[in-house]
Amino acid sequence: VWRGYHERVVDHYNNPRNVGSFDKNDPDVGTGLVGAPACGDVMKLQIKIDETSGKIVDACFKTFGCGSAIASSSVATEWVKGKQMEDVLSIKNTEIAKHLSLPPVKLHCSMLAEDAIKAAVKDYETKRGRSERNKEATLKTATA
Ligand code: FES
Repeated sequence: VWRGYHERVVDHYNNPRNVGSFDKNDPDVGTGLVGAPACGDVMKLQIKIDETSGKIVDACFKTFGCGSAIASSSVATEWVKGKQMEDVLSIKNTEIAKHLSLPPVKLHCSMLAEDAIKAAVKDYETKRGRSERNKEATLKTATA
């Protein structure tokens, strides 16, 4: 039997961390904007990166969606802050869902957060001309 939302969901819903927006045209900012087709909810997660170290120095979000999506994005911003950009790509929605004890029907809400993190990193890399293809090209030139 499901006994209602975990206190962490309620806490992050009532006191969401890092709500806000960065200028998406700032070259240090990566923006991930994703939507859940199942419910129409939308999440925007942004990261600010220190170009030299590749570290995420700040993060913020705006979520138009359910309480679980808001809580998931709030947790996601907390988790990515201070981490290396490459490291946050391994954050799984299941970890977020577990942290918040989300019920199975709310798994897709945490999926939005995982997708948004990935999209934000990708956006930054594209902006910086550091797409995967570029990386491969650089590697090839380096090893050639
Ligand atoms: Fe769709 Fe939560 S119900 S994101």
